[in-house]
Amino acid sequence: MPVRIVIGAQWGDEGKGKVVDILSKDADYVVRYQGGANAGHTLKFDDTTIVLHLIPSGMFNGNSKCVIGNGVVIDPISLVDELEEVKSLGVNLENRLFISSAAHVILPYHKVLDKVKEKSRGSDAIGTTGRGIGPAYVSKVSRVGIRMCDLLQKNLLEEKITKNLNDINEALVNVYGVEPIDAGSMMAELEPAIDIVKPYISNTTKIMHEALQKGESVLLEGAQGSLLDVDHGTYPYVTSSSPTAGGACTGTGIPPMAITHAMGITKAYCTRVGNGPFPTELHDEDGEKLRKNGQEFGATTGRPRRCGWLDLVALNYAIRLSGMNELTLTKLDVLDDFDEIKICTGYELDGKTTDVFPIETEKVSRVKPVYKTFEGWKTSTQNISSFDDLPVKTQEYIRFIEEFTGVTFNIISTGPKRDETIIR
Ligand code: IMP
Repeated sequence: MPVRIVIGAQWGDEGKGKVVDILSKDADYVVRYQGGANAGHTLKFDDTTIVLHLIPSGMFNGNSKCVIGNGVVIDPISLVDELEEVKSLGVNLENRLFISSAAHVILPYHKVLDKVKEKSRGSDAIGTTGRGIGPAYVSKVSRVGIRMCDLLQKNLLEEKITKNLNDINEALVNVYGVEPIDAGSMMAELEPAIDIVKPYISNTTKIMHEALQKGESVLLEGAQGSLLDVDHGTYPYVTSSSPTAGGACTGTGIPPMAITHAMGITKAYCTRVGNGPFPTELHDEDGEKLRKNGQEFGATTGRPRRCGWLDLVALNYAIRLSGMNELTLTKLDVLDDFDEIKICTGYELDGKTTDVFPIETEKVSRVKPVYKTFEGWKTSTQNISSFDDLPVKTQEYIRFIEEFTGVTFNIISTGPKRDETIIR
């Protein structure tokens, strides 16, 4: 049975939530493997719009079980808000949601650290979501992290938190000049959330292994995007986890050889939130139009997204990083009223043309995109659900990307709703 990873092929916000929601009807398990509540996966169906930050986007398909894997960092307080919201929409979570006991916890001190560190970076700020993601992963790799299983032993938890706060408060007071955090009041804030989250904490690695053994289908839901990967993205302007395929294995305990499909999700153009290089970024009317047509504002932070043309150098890099053997094209309809549409097919760097995405972030910020220009199709593609019904110019645009990347679009999204989709 398929074990499919859904991976953002750009800088996040590619529309993964909708794709996972559609694919989850055939999945026994839908699993988040990295990131945390920095993600915002928007789902639209019937008259409902919901933004999920931690709960997998398969939750609205009654048949799939959902797992928050060990690679995710979890803020129990924001998770409780999300659980309540999902339950209020009539979704049953019992025996359907499993949270890894090995996942690390985002504590209030991580969120404070995220904010004070960003402020102290000044003009070098990363532009984080302020959700404590980076500091929580720092605790994890420094081996002082609190895991979900620790929430089940209150005395031990308090002991660990108090110990951690010794160092953290020293930094907060002496380095960043802010108030220290009190362990007692932090525990008091956490306890009601722990009581609600407790029943879902499980050995999800074992659940995954049993699912594989039974031949059940698993859908692994990536957050953020390949170019925000801590190893392969535009470092240091990245998130602190691995959205690429490797992260799906370490973040769940599923072995690499079990993965059968890696589906990359790309918009028909590019966006980025936060700082860092973005070769095809537009600072003109076309950029404004993409933002307006695509309603490009962050689902988690509300920040306006930076917009630009589709970048095939970056897309090919993302495809190779994860071995993507399927693609989904989203937000095609956003291009409907453009006279001309551009696609970046190469970079000019130091007088030479290259098709390689540079490792050095400084070089990524200096490259000049080489564009191929397409005539716009100037007609609505919204709601179209068959490839053959797309305007010929749109089909040509899509086929060009497929030929350039060597990967086919299995799904093309022509609007935010479930049924505004072409499945090929
Ligand atoms: P962090 O993940 O909050 O530490 O933020 C690091 C960088 O990743 C910033 O540029 C954020 O804007 C970006 N980022 C984090 N999560 C998302 C996401 O879900 N979509 C798009 N960008 C994100």
